[in-house]
Amino acid sequence: MSGVTILAIESSCDETSAAVIEDGSLLSNIVFSQIDIHTKYGGVVPEIASRSHLEKVTAVTDEALDKAGKTLEDLSAVAVTCGPGLVGALLVGVSYAKALSYSLGCRLIGVNHMRGHIGAAFLAGAQPPCLTLVVSGGHTMIVRVDSYSDFTLLGSTRDDAAGEVFDKVARVVGLGYPGGPKLDKAADGGNEDYLVLPRAMLNEDNYDFSFSGIKSAVLNHINAAKMKNEPIDVPGVCASFRKCVCDILVGKTIRAAKNEGLNRIAVCGGVACNSLLRKMLIEACDQNGYDLTIPDASLCSDNAGMIAVSAYHQYLAGDFASLDLNASPSLSL
Ligand code: KG4
Ligand code: ZN
Repeated sequence: MSGVTILAIESSCDETSAAVIEDGSLLSNIVFSQIDIHTKYGGVVPEIASRSHLEKVTAVTDEALDKAGKTLEDLSAVAVTCGPGLVGALLVGVSYAKALSYSLGCRLIGVNHMRGHIGAAFLAGAQPPCLTLVVSGGHTMIVRVDSYSDFTLLGSTRDDAAGEVFDKVARVVGLGYPGGPKLDKAADGGNEDYLVLPRAMLNEDNYDFSFSGIKSAVLNHINAAKMKNEPIDVPGVCASFRKCVCDILVGKTIRAAKNEGLNRIAVCGGVACNSLLRKMLIEACDQNGYDLTIPDASLCSDNAGMIAVSAYHQYLAGDFASLDLNASPSLSL
């Protein structure tokens, strides 16, 4: 099918983004990050996020269309992230996309944000069948991908998501928001053996994760040091924590690929920006002869380009939404 032009909108958390894709080629991907807005609160404030999406969504969309050299009349469909995410933030994108598709008389496509993250791996060249590690602020999943639409969840976190613990530990050691990237930097040069942390569930015969015990172990160390008035080795804490989480993520991913008989691996989601995770996955895949796809960092964190890729495959499959599409904050894969 050719001549398919889709505008995609992403507003599930703290990025307002719009992208245009034509016949599977991404023409534009504009991201407005709210980091500066939320920094002073130490994390994302949902109500402020929704208001900011409302203020920016039209300008970001116009810019995406301009950069793609397209107008609204060129669109075959408008796609939007409908969940999971913050309900008020999602509603801005969903309402906007519904209004556009209704007024233009074109198709509407509702995209699952987590499937969107996997779309970023397709954009970077990943081909099914493959094993995908999806690591974001709200989710940690190992997914078997058999086609552009056939996904099987093999395992996920039983408590906190990997990104969530990165953010919490960063806050506790005083690095602030956004925690993941700051902790990643602070860990460079730190001693990975400074803290002994549990590799939770690493050797269990499943693909699930548990990160809350690791977080508690770090918090206990910090509290104990504070009570004894001892200095905290921030790079050491960060390096030990980062290494622990990466050991688990990489160990479980490689084991899943082996057991599933898949020799292609992809990683996506905001935590896939982590420098050690990228390095360790490259090394592990080299050692095991696996083909690895890691999208560029700009495609790992939230962006509408990844939503556009998923929407394109949904368009080809005839997977359209009607105007009763709603925001689904807890949408599962
Ligand atoms: O996928 P994403 O942009 O948004 C969600 O869907 O959640 O992921 C955001 C998460 C945050 O928790 C952020 O701290 C984390 O990804 N993150 C990182 C790094 N860059 C972003 N975590 C560890 N190291 C990084 N370099
Ligand atoms: Zn995300």
